[in-house]
Amino acid sequence: MLVTAGRFAAIAALLLPLAATAPTPTTDATAPSKATPLHIRPTPRILPLSALNHIFDHDAPSNTSSTETLVARSVLHSETSLVERDLFGEQPEDEDTVLEKRRLQIRASCLDSTATDATISSLFYYGGQGTTVFLCPGAVISTTNAIFFTAPQQTLTTYGNPTGSTRATIRVTASNQSCAVYGAWSGANNVVLRNVQVDGNRPGLGLLEGGLALLEFGGNTVGQTITQIRAFEPRGWSCLHASEGDGNQCSSMIISNNAIGPSGHAPSSAQQFRKRDSTGSYGPYNWADGISIACKASSVTGNTIMDATDGAIVIFGALGSNIQGNTVISNDRQLMGGINLVDFNPYGGSFAGTVVQSNTVIANTNFIKVGIAVGGLVWGSDNRTASRTYGGTIKNNVFRSGWTGYFGYAIAASGHNSTTITGNSARQANFGGVESSACFTSLFPLPPRQAFVDNPWTTPGSTLQAGFYKNLAFGFAICLAPGRITARGSPY
Ligand SMILES: *[C@@H]1O[C@H](CO)[C@@H](O)[C@H](O)[C@H]1NC(C)=O
Ligand SMILES: *[C@@H]1O[C@H](CO)[C@@H](O)[C@H](O)[C@H]1NC(C)=O
Ligand SMILES: *[C@@H]1O[C@H](CO)[C@@H](O)[C@H](O)[C@H]1NC(C)=O
Ligand SMILES: *[C@@H]1O[C@H](CO)[C@@H](O)[C@H](O)[C@H]1NC(C)=O
Repeated sequence: MLVTAGRFAAIAALLLPLAATAPTPTTDATAPSKATPLHIRPTPRILPLSALNHIFDHDAPSNTSSTETLVARSVLHSETSLVERDLFGEQPEDEDTVLEKRRLQIRASCLDSTATDATISSLFYYGGQGTTVFLCPGAVISTTNAIFFTAPQQTLTTYGNPTGSTRATIRVTASNQSCAVYGAWSGANNVVLRNVQVDGNRPGLGLLEGGLALLEFGGNTVGQTITQIRAFEPRGWSCLHASEGDGNQCSSMIISNNAIGPSGHAPSSAQQFRKRDSTGSYGPYNWADGISIACKASSVTGNTIMDATDGAIVIFGALGSNIQGNTVISNDRQLMGGINLVDFNPYGGSFAGTVVQSNTVIANTNFIKVGIAVGGLVWGSDNRTASRTYGGTIKNNVFRSGWTGYFGYAIAASGHNSTTITGNSARQANFGGVESSACFTSLFPLPPRQAFVDNPWTTPGSTLQAGFYKNLAFGFAICLAPGRITARGSPY
């Protein structure tokens, strides 16, 4: 979550005696944001229809029954569409113009690597509702702006819906660009992004501070689907942001069976976030999420998030959502939170109806500070009762480690009312790591590294499974730094 930097500023403001030991924020965050981040509302690049001539074959005989259509809801039949206006201005329709339109056949079944964001956005724009754009298998689409979904029921996929390396790749290439596909256009209901690869290109272009997520969906929409994609190396704060929309109106998104990550970097400078990342040397605020979901009544299932660094799955309340059967793995990059329920906004602290179940979090060859983080006080040090998050169910999740991987804690709960945590297992997980100088050790030492820890003074109304250590008031568990493994396996 991008809010990490701001959160530290808020912490410092609220806990003055301890502020000196908190990490120094780089941004001014005087008040918590009211929404998940969406810094700019970008606009698509739309080409004049004439620029798409090479896609349409003017000489081909009309064949409206063809299944080999690039634009599923053919522009040829949209009598009131933008196509008509752009092609023929205000002229009344006559037989010739109808004929002209019928001659506009699609030249190929899919777009090859010569297509750009503008080509695809234009096809959606002119095609309107229900348009499907197929990319050719193996195509690499260089973008300098996001591809935009502009109307309901639009789909972007690779022709034939392959699931492996032949999925077309959409790549970020402009210096001021971090977003590859933008689906948060108001009313873009039920759009589908599927069977593509999306390369955020951070290794090539670097971090873009304040940049949008690689994939921006949600917003004022319902029923969007993102499935069978691979998305990695975002330049902004997250691979996939499902935003809440105005008045939290977003609902019913499906995010399933995607491969997400790597995403972001743990800084190598700050001692508390010491590098364990073989890919380079990084300053602070390079962290990024895998999936950041604020859209309510959504389903996040069957995804694999590998080597995210901030939160692999960050749940911004997302009321009534089901987060199930996902796999979070930390191999090459250190991860702060596997699955996070720590953000107060945008639902005023509520996680009502949100269920986190049957996920697997694997600290394979690296350090995961907290497997599932429950409560704002796990992530910071704002101990006011008014700041508490509340609600949600966390059940039947499994935590595991490879020989060199370990957790600080499998589940840590602090500053969160009325949650239910049952049936989770960390029997095959390792634990370790040390308190860094950023921790509030002298006042609030952290519990010994182990599976399940709860700050009982700050979690009223909660139902917790057996095995929770409840002897210490603690906060800011992500102040942990890497250290040796102190426990292999757990009784719970
Ligand atoms: C029209 O498309 C159908 C289905 O793809 C095909 O069977 C038929 O041969 C095509 N006709 C012409 C004239 O291209
Ligand atoms: C990048 O900068 C160019 C030139 O200033 C501008 O036209 C374009 O809209 C910008 N793109 C993004 C994604 O901000
Ligand atoms: C959480 O519990 C505390 C103590 O019972 C209470 O004062 C506070 O209002 C509760 N917060 C929420 C959001 O329910
Ligand atoms: C937070 O507040 C509770 C009382 O609400 C107190 O018992 C606890 O020591 C405080 N600090 C932490 C880190 O929990």
